[in-house]
Amino acid sequence: MDSVTRLGVVGCGLMGSGIAEVAALGGLDVRVAEATPDAVEAGRRRVTASLDRGVQRGKITEEQRDQARARLSFTHDLSDLSDRQFVVEAVAENREIKTDVLRTLDKAVEDSSAILATNTSSIPVVDLAVATERPGQVIGMHFFNPVPVQRLVELVPALTTSPDTVQRTRDLATQLGKQPIQAPDRSGFVVNALLVPYLLSAVRMVESGGARPQDIDQGMELGCAHPMGPLRLLDLIGLDTAQAVAESMYEEFKEPLYAPPALLRRMVAAGHLGRKNGRGFYAYD
Ligand code: CAA
Repeated sequence: MDSVTRLGVVGCGLMGSGIAEVAALGGLDVRVAEATPDAVEAGRRRVTASLDRGVQRGKITEEQRDQARARLSFTHDLSDLSDRQFVVEAVAENREIKTDVLRTLDKAVEDSSAILATNTSSIPVVDLAVATERPGQVIGMHFFNPVPVQRLVELVPALTTSPDTVQRTRDLATQLGKQPIQAPDRSGFVVNALLVPYLLSAVRMVESGGARPQDIDQGMELGCAHPMGPLRLLDLIGLDTAQAVAESMYEEFKEPLYAPPALLRRMVAAGHLGRKNGRGFYAYD
């Protein structure tokens, strides 16, 4: 099987924009789909700003940026992904929305051997796979935030996923400069199963008045050499996303450590979603 040259990305939020950027820089023809023309424009701005930052930081040349931009196209119509060989969906962490997107993609993508990958963090991949007519070609491909920086990709085959799909997805991850690991199709996979209880414990520590956010974060940054403490990291991930991930994990395991603490729910209800909208455990410009 030839390597992937035409990639589709559905959703151009934090994760989708990073995936699109990395793939375009990696030489792929990338078509990005968002739900509405406004969301398309917001997504385009996000990718463009990140490529510009890459130039300012000396990570990429202006020529690489311009070439990557030329390889990117945007649409608000999923049927424009009909000629894609591989599509990664990175829409909101919501079972109904993701199921709907996969069903629509399944009909829209003409090549019946094309792979549909989901960037879900916590929804069982098999549930999404069986919603399509090609369960052998549906797989979890879980990137980490910020996508241009984090090297890991979790490959999550469902019980229905074919070995060929796993191999082609592994090859694509490598082609994008990522290091794949294989993870079980259980909510949270490998990384979030370990990370989420830790992040939620930090929220409970704030909730109980045990410590201030800046002390918790400094504790883990300076004491354990983590690049960012748990509350800063929650702000980066997005509190709504973290809550959705924790809920999926709690639904699967009924493990109290995965239950979103009341403070997290209240912050999400208040619209304090983290960096993406300027306010979470910290305030951002
Ligand atoms: N795009 C490209 N490069 C970026 C970038 C971006 N968006 N953000 C940062 N960088 C690069 C910078 O250019 C810099 O590179 P050099 O060191 O070569 O100059 C490097 O990353 C460090 O950046 P900064 O100096 O600006 O900032 P920092 O040192 O504070 O690092 C960070 C920022 C990369 C986000 C770092 O703090 C970090 O790795 N934090 C942990 C992130 C993490 O744990 N992510 C996983 C989240 S869990 C998840 O995603 C899964 C899920 O399902 C919820």
